[in-house]
Amino acid sequence: MIDFIIMGAGGAGRTVLGTCADISSRVGFLDDNCAATVVNGAPVLGTTNERGRLRGCKYIIAFGSRFQRERSSVFATMQAEGYTFFNAINSQAYVDRFAVVGQGVFVGAQSAILPNANVGNNCYICVGCSVDHDCVVECGTYLAPGVHLAGGVHVGESVFIGIGAVVLPLVRVGAGAVIGAGAVVMHDVVPGAVVAGVPARTLHKKES
Ligand SMILES: CC(C)(COP(=O)(O)OP(=O)(O)OC[C@H]1O[C@@H](n2cnc3c(N)ncnc32)[C@H](O)[C@@H]1OP(=O)(O)O)[C@@H](O)C(=O)NCCC(=O)NCCS
Repeated sequence: MIDFIIMGAGGAGRTVLGTCADISSRVGFLDDNCAATVVNGAPVLGTTNERGRLRGCKYIIAFGSRFQRERSSVFATMQAEGYTFFNAINSQAYVDRFAVVGQGVFVGAQSAILPNANVGNNCYICVGCSVDHDCVVECGTYLAPGVHLAGGVHVGESVFIGIGAVVLPLVRVGAGAVIGAGAVVMHDVVPGAVVAGVPARTLHKKES
């Protein structure tokens, strides 16, 4: 019987599935663009709109990094509709016992969430990231592989941080910002800004 649903059967969804080894026989996908009926051994049960007939299941949203906006909006809709969510935390990830992790969160292998960090709902933390002590990562944020947030960093809602980026201590990254791959962010980033480089500089502001 399927009682865990991964929304999205692409790379991000398959990565979540890999973390669910202990419950793999009870996991299915919903995906709007997948022709296959089975992906990596798990059934594709239909499109995301078909969740209504799977109301009793627990969900995680695993749309890839290109679908940042959709990840946040679908989560908000489902939360308002009363769906419940599960966390997929890889057995090789480390979450400190004094860290707080919300609902519908993925944490990949070799990632660490350190003491008194707070990771909000619907965050997707890829392989090899560190979220150091006292960081706040608000809902819907995506950390690509190898992102490192130093102590006390505050990342707003629905931020995308590209592969290998580093954010220095106590920096604040505003909601909806995009940090480019490999950036070193030394100063606060305003909401919606797209920044990149070493040190990171603003490229432009995201279209809303
Ligand atoms: C930062 C980013 C979002 C910018 O995308 P964009 O708005 O489409 O910007 P463009 O590709 O048009 O590039 C604009 C300029 O920024 C530069 N630039 C883009 N990304 C850069 C980066 N990561 N570091 C340094 N410079 C960068 C480009 O060379 C270009 O410079 P130019 O104007 O002198 O030619 C994107 O390049 C990026 O880094 N994405 C992260 C991808 C990623 O990590 N994915 C992980 C998937 S798991």
